[in-house]
Amino acid sequence: MTRPLLDVRDLRVTFQIQSSGAMPWHKPKQLRAVGGVDFTLNPGETLGIVGESGCGKSTLARALIGLVPATGKAEWIDGKDLISLSPRQMMKYRSDIQMVFQDPLASLNPRMTVGQIIAEPLTTHHPNLKRAEVKERVKAMMEKVGLLPNQINRYPHEFSGGQCQRIGIARALIVEPKLIICDEPVSALDVSIQAQVINLLIRLQKELGLSLVFIAHDLSVVKHISDRVMVLYLGKVMEIASSDDLYAHPQHPYTQALLSAVPVPDPDYDPVASVVPLKGDLPSPLNPPSGCVFRTRCPRAEARCATEAPALSLGDHQVACHFPGPLTETEIARARRTEAA
Ligand SMILES: Nc1ncnc2c1ncn2[C@@H]1O[C@H](COP(=O)(O)OP(=O)(O)O)[C@@H](O)[C@H]1O
Ligand SMILES: [Mg+2]
Repeated sequence: MTRPLLDVRDLRVTFQIQSSGAMPWHKPKQLRAVGGVDFTLNPGETLGIVGESGCGKSTLARALIGLVPATGKAEWIDGKDLISLSPRQMMKYRSDIQMVFQDPLASLNPRMTVGQIIAEPLTTHHPNLKRAEVKERVKAMMEKVGLLPNQINRYPHEFSGGQCQRIGIARALIVEPKLIICDEPVSALDVSIQAQVINLLIRLQKELGLSLVFIAHDLSVVKHISDRVMVLYLGKVMEIASSDDLYAHPQHPYTQALLSAVPVPDPDYDPVASVVPLKGDLPSPLNPPSGCVFRTRCPRAEARCATEAPALSLGDHQVACHFPGPLTETEIARARRTEAA
């Protein structure tokens, strides 16, 4: 067995929300953004992380690189716990773990040239590199991600959204990281451009033997790129499995509902007949349901689900549900009736 690149145990992030100015004596509220997440990531592996907006995906990513305070453990391959590092110690790891963000243009400094933007992490981590050497590496990297090296002196606004995301990827890769965390890297792009950026990431991941964490709010986006997929709901892991297994044999009712909403290229597919609706709205992370966080929307919830939080099972296909398994026709029909009512 190879040692995982990253081994995350019981990672939690809670934000203190101050009450509004009118009643400052009210106690701050606790917002549980990440509620105890476990997963491993192997060298060279791509893990997709999927969940609705607000379920804690970005917070989880930010916690791993020390941008928000967290508890629990995130053991790097060298045995160091990333969560317990001081900001100074974290600097050393920041060249190993790079991020690519959702909004390509907004995440690039508009006053810097593309060359300066891509070079920045390199000069931060290797201040003694000669200018000519930096320029050479930047140009080579631009070429690698499909940008024209002669555009090195242009500014971000002169590029399209897809090209800006290539700039963000070049900037992440320039320090030769072991892991890149891509936080919804294609959500802001046109569908036609999304596939190009995903294919670029797949190619680079293979070529460079990188590990990738690829965050998306939609299961269809991560399917192609991920070796394994983790489904999050209200800061909790619902299911983790190999991509093939998760899409073919989802065990958690939530995963099944998410998958039912993914369009499939099948002429006989009838989206109205196939979608499993979820009842009600997403609960607030300020006041998550007792027991299983998904139970208020689950077509299968029973009394036990309200009192006892299901643990994530062990093994290759992990699921956190007291009653895992495929939804029956009856359950799907019941879910539809509840929604129609
Ligand atoms: N800095 C912060 N302060 C307070 N609450 C936050 C902060 N960042 C995120 N949150 C809250 O944490 C929850 C998870 O947010 P986020 O990680 O951005 O979700 P996602 O990326 O899955 O959309 C949300 O309820 C969000 O409002
Ligand atoms: Mg996010």
